[in-house]
Amino acid sequence: MNLPITARVNKMNHLEIGGCDTVGLAKEFGTPLYVMDEATLREKCREYAQSFRAHYPDTRIVFASKALSCTAVLKVIDSEGVGVDVSSGGELYTARLAACGMKNIYYHGNNKSRAELKEAVDAGVGRIVVDNLAELERLDEIAGHAKKEVDILFRMNPGIEAHTHEFIQTGKIDSKFGIQRQDIIEAVRVANEKKYVNFVGIHSHIGSQIFDIEPFEAEVDVLCQTAKDILDQTRTEVMELNLGGGLGISYLGDEKVPGTGEFAERICKRLMARIKELSLPAPRLILEPGRSLVGNAGVTLYEIGVIKDIPGVRKYIMIDGGMADNPRPILYDAKYAAYVANKFNEDNGAKERVTVAGRFCESGDVILRDVELKKVEVGDVLAVTATGAYNYSMASNYNRVCRPAMVMLNQGQAYEIIRRENYEDITRMDVVIS
Ligand code: LLP
Repeated sequence: MNLPITARVNKMNHLEIGGCDTVGLAKEFGTPLYVMDEATLREKCREYAQSFRAHYPDTRIVFASKALSCTAVLKVIDSEGVGVDVSSGGELYTARLAACGMKNIYYHGNNKSRAELKEAVDAGVGRIVVDNLAELERLDEIAGHAKKEVDILFRMNPGIEAHTHEFIQTGKIDSKFGIQRQDIIEAVRVANEKKYVNFVGIHSHIGSQIFDIEPFEAEVDVLCQTAKDILDQTRTEVMELNLGGGLGISYLGDEKVPGTGEFAERICKRLMARIKELSLPAPRLILEPGRSLVGNAGVTLYEIGVIKDIPGVRKYIMIDGGMADNPRPILYDAKYAAYVANKFNEDNGAKERVTVAGRFCESGDVILRDVELKKVEVGDVLAVTATGAYNYSMASNYNRVCRPAMVMLNQGQAYEIIRRENYEDITRMDVVIS
């Protein structure tokens, strides 16, 4: 299912989400508009925590905030008892602003600056995920100056290739991320000699938008075997195993996506089997989902402004947003589904083959290519689904177009959580003003 769990058709044949008429929202808040369904977001957080804890009670769920970093969303996440993974000073700042518990923060990054490491140490984040030995040195020095001890995990490259787009594959041997597997024992030895860093666990992340569970099971095997090697060779217990994120979501509605329940059961069973087989002390299990927590909770609403039919060639439907608010099609050739929000349930309404293009100055600014859509007219509202993850967080001001607002929907109420940018916002960094 690619729509939020509260999506339905109302009496006016409009798409309703969170008890709100999306056509009404487009009028009230303007378009393009990102909408976020609070019920879906909370449901996903609970589904993850409950599914994993049913099999392996010592599991902690941490939201990868790169998927959608914004104070209101982080407040919901925090209120569900889910931790936050940050990968920059800006994401940490956002989590602090949202008053998220600092002990539940996991700080990532393959080249964190000294300033960022200092911010993390000063903020008292729960864990810093150290990517390489240069960072370990810097962190020990910075923590030493602050006279604070920090708990760290090492990010390890597990050497696993998952089937996903090359740009979002991260766990294969040729990767900038993490310590190579053969170097991890030495890294633990070095950490054990440091005064201000405490090694508590290992982390890896195999990629994103992955539908197969096997590569995750292989990752469990690699992490467990590494934990065993660390124990045997350095007498150090690995207390946390962090599997990263990566479970895919449905964008089109017809993909075969494993349910969170199946995912949890298989991962936990594999983990328990390996723990037994290797006689390991049971570690805490950490998962860092990003996309699968927020992706399907989000929908983007656009207004159709122009229709251009090139007979025998293609019919273009032009929306008032595009590649700047959703760069995923142009970056990863990502596919999306769209619905006409004001004609949501006209089952026998005529359909036609169209291409949905954006308003930006690039021919590649296409959000959906050659899709079947209900016959549209200028002024119709188009809802593009599954836009909750990596849309706002990767949005740009290309063509100096203002980034859209985002509203949170819950039980018939809509409240703005990110305001729409205006011309002052997009020129506020320009230093020379005549
Ligand atoms: N943990 C770590 C260390 C990560 O690097 C990532 C994602 C996650 C967790 C969350 O992964 P997820 O559950 O969201 O798949 N911009 C790309 C996705 C890049 C993902 C980067 N790392 C996209 O739009 O598809």
